[in-house]
Amino acid sequence: MQRLDRVLARHGLGSRREVGHLVRAGKVTVDGESERDGARRIDPLRQEIAVNGAVLPPRIQWHLLCHKPQNVVTSTSDPRDPCLLDLIPEAVWRADYSPVGRLDKDTTGLIWLTTDGELIHRLTHPRWKLPKRYRVTLRDPATPEDIRAFTTGEIVLDGEPVLPAFLDLGSDPREVGVTLREGRYHQVKRMFHARGNEVLALARVGFGPLTLGPDLPVGSFRLPSDAEERAMYAAVSLQSPDADG
Ligand code: URA
Repeated sequence: MQRLDRVLARHGLGSRREVGHLVRAGKVTVDGESERDGARRIDPLRQEIAVNGAVLPPRIQWHLLCHKPQNVVTSTSDPRDPCLLDLIPEAVWRADYSPVGRLDKDTTGLIWLTTDGELIHRLTHPRWKLPKRYRVTLRDPATPEDIRAFTTGEIVLDGEPVLPAFLDLGSDPREVGVTLREGRYHQVKRMFHARGNEVLALARVGFGPLTLGPDLPVGSFRLPSDAEERAMYAAVSLQSPDADG
């Protein structure tokens, strides 16, 4: 829920003070009813706000969380393979959605889609070192020596050492957790390959501040909560234009 004057200001209708005048002058309706209190808390996703009779678009930017299954490509259209668009009903889809980062066709896991170009730019820019967490099934058990190699950044891919990565052996060293702070092509698979091992299955279970949970079964999608949206923007020092609660 957000203050009405804040929502109006975020739509570019003036400063909080200026939109306060609009509200007090009776120019604003919420769900068709005149509203003269700028501090009233409203739900901009579900309530219709109009200024001088003109309905405001409900949001400025849109986001979706998606749990990509295997054999689906991380794109919004593909001539051959099923893609993310095929998981999302037409009524929910927006042509300006882009996935942030890519997972291999055989990798499952969390994908954030957004219409916000600046957010995409920052979330994928190496400067922000956004953590990406993976659950990895390995052919051979991972070893403490692998942990050392991952954390020291001694593994070199394409002539460049990787950034230190976190390897968590847990109770089964064939089922490990890996956290990367960059996103190079086939990075997890190639890092284990460099250690003489092989990745049998890979799932992204965390992206920045978000963790894949039971509320997002494989093949499903949902809108992020306001808190998730705020956390995603905050992770790259931005403020959500919609969920500023
Ligand atoms: N690393 C990989 O090897 N593949 C992915 O899909 C993601 C990270």
